[in-house]
Amino acid sequence: MEHSIYLEAAAALARQAGEIIRARFGGEFEKEYKSCPSDMVTEVDRKCEEIIIAGLQKVFPDHVIVGEESTDEARAYPDGFTWYVDPLDGTTNFVYGIPFCCVSIGLAFGGEIVAGVVYDPFRGECFSAAKGSGAFLNGRLVCVDPIRKKLKEGLLVTGYPSNKTFNKRLLRIDYHRVLESCTNLRALGAAALELAYIACGRLTGFWENVLRPWDVAAGSLLVEEAGGRVTDINGQKLNLEGYPSIVASNGLIHDELLEVLS
Ligand code: IPD
Ligand code: CA
Ligand code: CA
Repeated sequence: MEHSIYLEAAAALARQAGEIIRARFGGEFEKEYKSCPSDMVTEVDRKCEEIIIAGLQKVFPDHVIVGEESTDEARAYPDGFTWYVDPLDGTTNFVYGIPFCCVSIGLAFGGEIVAGVVYDPFRGECFSAAKGSGAFLNGRLVCVDPIRKKLKEGLLVTGYPSNKTFNKRLLRIDYHRVLESCTNLRALGAAALELAYIACGRLTGFWENVLRPWDVAAGSLLVEEAGGRVTDINGQKLNLEGYPSIVASNGLIHDELLEVLS
């Protein structure tokens, strides 16, 4: 299947949204709470989503579009094309003035991710991948970290849910055990961009317990196309539906990482 038309459309819209994120960064914007005060949405998230959805609808009127700020139901669609849009991943960073956020747009066909773009507007880095064609950073082929073969050599990254009701799930992880097993552990605050960093070898392994399909759709394909491995937290195939848990890595440390998370 030829994916370049999808990637080009997604990258152009991600850059357009990214321009808005960069222009509004550090300024005044309206904020609202979603599930609780730590779960924020800003007028910038909504504006970016509006632009991306309108742009996709114009070019692909038959496709289903699942956008974080406009869709309650995040299910998988077994037939045809479905876009998963996170217009601003890293809203908390954005609100607090930390320039680590991205736009994430993934495309599934028949329930399988076939194309994805993650765009970092602060560094002008556009990560893209299409099924079977490799992963790219600004057009240059990238691969996962080929050097760290053992968990103890790996730099790991994780994230914490914005919705406090999911914090209970953190109890199943022994953070002390994880820290003893690896070089160090980061939490950078934008899941899609963290996955892109796994894909280009800057980080070795990532996990997070409660995410949404738009957080992981594009990034999981980036990791796989860069030669890495992606599973759920039990080592099974990642299921996009609902509230996926994810483990992504350079592949070499994956089994060890699953073991330490179990
Ligand atoms: C959040 C970020 C964060 C992750 C949260 C997500 P948002 O997405 O990806 O890194 O830890 O679980 O909800 O709300 O900034 O799009
Ligand atoms: Ca997100
Ligand atoms: Ca978001």
